[in-house]
Amino acid sequence: MTTKISFRDVVKTYPMREGTFTALDHVSLDIADQEFVTVVGPSGCGKSTLMSMAAGLVEPSSGEVLVDGDPVSGPGPDRGVIFQQYALFPWLSVRKNVEFGLKLADIPGAERRRRAERAIELVGLSDFADALPKTLSGGMKQRCAIARAYAVNPKVLLMDEPFGALDALTRVQLQDQLLHTWSQEQRTVMFITHDVDEAVYLARRVIVMAARPGRVQQIIDVDLPYPRTEEIRLSPEFGRIRNEVWHSVYHQAPAA
Ligand SMILES: Nc1ncnc2c1ncn2[C@@H]1O[C@H](COP(=O)(O)OP(=O)(O)OP(=O)(O)O)[C@@H](O)[C@H]1O
Ligand SMILES: [Mg+2]
Repeated sequence: MTTKISFRDVVKTYPMREGTFTALDHVSLDIADQEFVTVVGPSGCGKSTLMSMAAGLVEPSSGEVLVDGDPVSGPGPDRGVIFQQYALFPWLSVRKNVEFGLKLADIPGAERRRRAERAIELVGLSDFADALPKTLSGGMKQRCAIARAYAVNPKVLLMDEPFGALDALTRVQLQDQLLHTWSQEQRTVMFITHDVDEAVYLARRVIVMAARPGRVQQIIDVDLPYPRTEEIRLSPEFGRIRNEVWHSVYHQAPAA
């Protein structure tokens, strides 16, 4: 299998009033082409920092981050990013927000409208396509941000707690949609979540991180077939893996 994203001995430090703070401490991780990995770990363990490096928004202090074997030098349309906090343009409608990324990627007008329409439909916002963000609920704003990333159809999706603000039903629906498009479009997905069930349901591998300093604690294989179904979600094997991830996250020994 070819490697899509590679973190090699990545260190990230921030200067403090006295000395430095180590946000990521020698993290090495390979994500295969078309793999779906989820990342879990306590608040502050460096999940967003790690993903931001793949997005080209944060540079490592040492080590390197490669996509398709090339060092990441900045953001690009090959990598779609969905942030922990949705970032919409308040003066643009849902439709215009979704089209914005397509404009940046130089997609012509008619194609832009078609793709935006499809992405908006996928996240269930068709009735609100002309609404301004301020008139939407938090979950709807988040779905708009998701549609904007989907519309560009990037080979890599980097998602930072994208479903965190959503109600349980919408969340499960979007999980299934995400898995569906992932399998169709041959994407590589790196997905951060605090929800252990979500982490196991989506991923082929769950990356468990630990804090102080931020590092990879354990990688847990999810040996369950795709497509994932409700039956799988309720199976004893799913429960066993969930317990293993839970244990790894919440019973972490502090770093020596
Ligand atoms: N620009 C910055 N300057 C200083 N410290 C920073 C900066 N960005 C992040 N950090 C620190 O790096 C650590 C990791 O932050 P990060 O946002 O990656 O954590 P996280 O795992 O995503 O947490 P959460 O689950 O709360 O989103 C934190 O302790 C944070 O305070
Ligand atoms: Mg974060």
